[in-house]
Amino acid sequence: MNLRAEGVSFRYPSGVLALDGVSLDIPSGQLLAILGENGAGKTTLVKLFNGLLRPAQGSVHIGDWDTAQHSPAALASRVGFLFQNPDDQLFERTLAREVAYGPRNLGASEAEVAHRVSRALKLVGLQDMADAHPYDLPAPQRKLLALAATIAMDTPILVLDEPTIGQDELGCRAISRILTDLHAMGRTLMMISHDMDFCAEHAERLVVMLNGKIHLDGSPAEVLSQTKKLDEAEVAPPQLVRLAQALKMRATPLTVDEFVDEYKQWRKKKNK
Ligand SMILES: Nc1ncnc2c1ncn2[C@@H]1O[C@H](COP(=O)(O)OP(=O)(O)O)[C@@H](O)[C@H]1O
Ligand SMILES: [Mg+2]
Repeated sequence: MNLRAEGVSFRYPSGVLALDGVSLDIPSGQLLAILGENGAGKTTLVKLFNGLLRPAQGSVHIGDWDTAQHSPAALASRVGFLFQNPDDQLFERTLAREVAYGPRNLGASEAEVAHRVSRALKLVGLQDMADAHPYDLPAPQRKLLALAATIAMDTPILVLDEPTIGQDELGCRAISRILTDLHAMGRTLMMISHDMDFCAEHAERLVVMLNGKIHLDGSPAEVLSQTKKLDEAEVAPPQLVRLAQALKMRATPLTVDEFVDEYKQWRKKKNK
């Protein structure tokens, strides 16, 4: 299912113009990452896709729905949303109840709810904590719980605000695996992240925001090679890309394997 924003502007009651004429078309099944410095408008943009915020100008479409015509509760059947701060999302007494809430609300049978709860908790590695209280978990685990609750909705679209923030290596790897699986299942994924290595490796498309506008939009190799524009947006390319640029290698390697391949060719040329 695709997502579309058309000429969207949004101003907070405080007067801040957080989005200024943003248009974005995300085809079904794409894994897109949104980058940009704090205050660029990333969170505001993704909140338009779950109906939590409404555009002042322009329109937002989820598949064949205009979000203006559907409640956030209805939109939740199409868009699963992971909040930047999991504490904005968690409110039940146990992990199991937390994950069950969404699918139950969408009308899944009790057997189906139980199945989804155990599957989602297992995916994030919290299956042994099903009866614990969410606030018995440290913050990074609460984020994983919130992710489990989001996944359990089984929506065609997932919007994730900073999924890897605060995660250790193990947590990042778990999230990495989960996103790869969801992508392979054909879900449309939109994530905000500051983790450039993660974005370079996983995203099919990068969108860089600056001052409420789209500043760059393209494949990771296209976007990450635009040093000057990235600088303007205060986005530092991943370490591998910076290393390749410092060595004046021509390609933009996104993974260690790609870097090694490029490096071998670069050395051969150097040694001629
Ligand atoms: N609830 C709010 N009330 C007023 N201003 C806000 C609110 N949330 C965000 N803003 C402002 O809107 C702009 C965009 O913020 P945000 O979308 O949160 O950016 P990002 O997620 O890229 O850090 C910033 O100037 C921010 O201060
Ligand atoms: Mg944000």
